[in-house]
Amino acid sequence: MEGEDSSGKLLAVATPLVRSRVLGRFLGFDGVPLYLKWEGANFTGTHKDRAALLHARRAAELGFPAVTAGTCGNFGVALAHYARVFGLKAVIFVPRGYENSRVGEMVERGAEVVFVDGRYEDAVEASVEAAEAHGWYDANPGGRNGSLSLEAYSAIAEEIVAELGDAPYAVAVPVGNGTTLAGLYRGFLRAYREGRVTAVPRLVAATTSHANELASLWFGEKLEPERVVETWVNEPLVALRALDAELALEALRATGGCVYAFEDEEMVEAALLVRALEGLPALPASASAILALERLAKGEEVEGPLVAVVTGRWRGRLRRL
Ligand SMILES: Cc1ncc(COP(=O)(O)O)c(C=O)c1O
Repeated sequence: MEGEDSSGKLLAVATPLVRSRVLGRFLGFDGVPLYLKWEGANFTGTHKDRAALLHARRAAELGFPAVTAGTCGNFGVALAHYARVFGLKAVIFVPRGYENSRVGEMVERGAEVVFVDGRYEDAVEASVEAAEAHGWYDANPGGRNGSLSLEAYSAIAEEIVAELGDAPYAVAVPVGNGTTLAGLYRGFLRAYREGRVTAVPRLVAATTSHANELASLWFGEKLEPERVVETWVNEPLVALRALDAELALEALRATGGCVYAFEDEEMVEAALLVRALEGLPALPASASAILALERLAKGEEVEGPLVAVVTGRWRGRLRRL
């Protein structure tokens, strides 16, 4: 991941692909290398930096005065950060009462935060309307500039390919809207078409068992909004309307991928394991990617390296549920 500010200073670099020495063995991946694509190394702690950087840079190039997005937290902090880097105002719409939100960090970075009654989807809608009304740059996923987010996340795939010299067997990605997963697909597909990898890896979606539209579509189940349980653990993965579900489903089907959904307790345990065995402060929601690989490996003969995309940004003590 690269980007330069006006003075030519490097804003961000490729995140590390960490070869697990202990976790893989602990989980029983005998003879199969496990890698963690450590997105916690991004400046504000998650892969959302990648999209925020490209959006803010484009907004500045196009002469917009402000960038806006609806967010549950991580994307908002990233957007606030890169808006400031490029001298723009950031207006972040956040659902009121979000337990795990990083509002304080958005404000510290100079963003204006607007609280919205309702859920994540309502915050995105309010942001899109405000962009229209005030002539701001719309950085929301799935919207008019959504393709740039896909491009940003395609760099995760490019970095994995550059590091391994070929595609891994499977890559697991924590999924909310499906944007990150669809972006990785774009990157791997490009590498395949350009002859840089011998195959496109199986893409595996890891999400919450409590309301994600992509998972519902995949399993053919009805999503019942009234039964949604949103917590500090699953918040990044809950999506009543997964804004890039179609693209992500296409990626899953085209690569022989699958979807696994997890309970909060499982994700917290996985995050504790990553912390204890690899020393990385993984966010529980993103530790779901490791659980997804464990499930995959239990169900089939895995024929090559496995990669889990894992983000950071869990501050403070991780409490067992
Ligand atoms: C840490 C983390 N993981 C995963 C996701 C889900 O990504 P996407 O919405 O691109 O599927 C998010 C989204 O906010 C996130 O913050």
